[in-house]
Amino acid sequence: MAALNPDDAKRLAAARALELVRPGMRLGLGTGTTAAHFVEQLGARVAGGLEVVCVPTSERTRTQAELFSIPLSTIDATPELDLTVDGADEFDPQLRLIKGGGGAHLREKIVAMASRRMIVITDSSKAVATLGKFPLPVEVNVFGLEVTRRMILAAAESSGCFGEVRLRKNPSGHPFVSDNGHFIVDCFLGAIPQPDQLAAHLSAIPGVVEHGLFIGVAKAVICAGPDGLEIFGELE
Ligand code: A5P
Repeated sequence: MAALNPDDAKRLAAARALELVRPGMRLGLGTGTTAAHFVEQLGARVAGGLEVVCVPTSERTRTQAELFSIPLSTIDATPELDLTVDGADEFDPQLRLIKGGGGAHLREKIVAMASRRMIVITDSSKAVATLGKFPLPVEVNVFGLEVTRRMILAAAESSGCFGEVRLRKNPSGHPFVSDNGHFIVDCFLGAIPQPDQLAAHLSAIPGVVEHGLFIGVAKAVICAGPDGLEIFGELE
């Protein structure tokens, strides 16, 4: 069999996650290129008669799901979900994640934690021994941005992480604004030796809305590499 390219790998991981979906389920729909494959494949199943109700984790995913006529709800109307399927920017052997490369991690975390199971779908480029090569996104309040940025830097240093904390900008040069109306800063740390400690320190900063460390949230990772699928954790 020919080795999979990254996009085919994402599609294959999404297809495996689709096997977990049962009629009547309440689903959380992730955000990003990998989650988009899941939404597309789910759309085909819905067109074939599958009945589910879904909560999207971003406006982008909502738009895509609407294109496929997937029945949608809100997290307020459907506060308990059976399964959330989402991508990740990095995962480590303890299934700790960095998310938020697309700026959607606040809603992603709310939806994932409202779900009985969060299953991550990735290609093998996202597997790391130590989190942090991917810049850690932190959603922050617009008010007090510079104060918050400095506090994040101090929190990182007190957790053994050294680097830069930069405001995310659009190609136009304007600050990126999340679906929730907040800014995002990206923490270029290189390595996060103690993710649990950093997560706790970041959560204690008043201007931090939510950081992109997902700890104890993912139940399993479906990872597609050049040679096929690998499952980390428990799918069921
Ligand atoms: C969105 O904010 C992110 O958390 C994505 O889930 C993550 O960036 C993975 O995206 P890709 O599947 O596009 O790599």
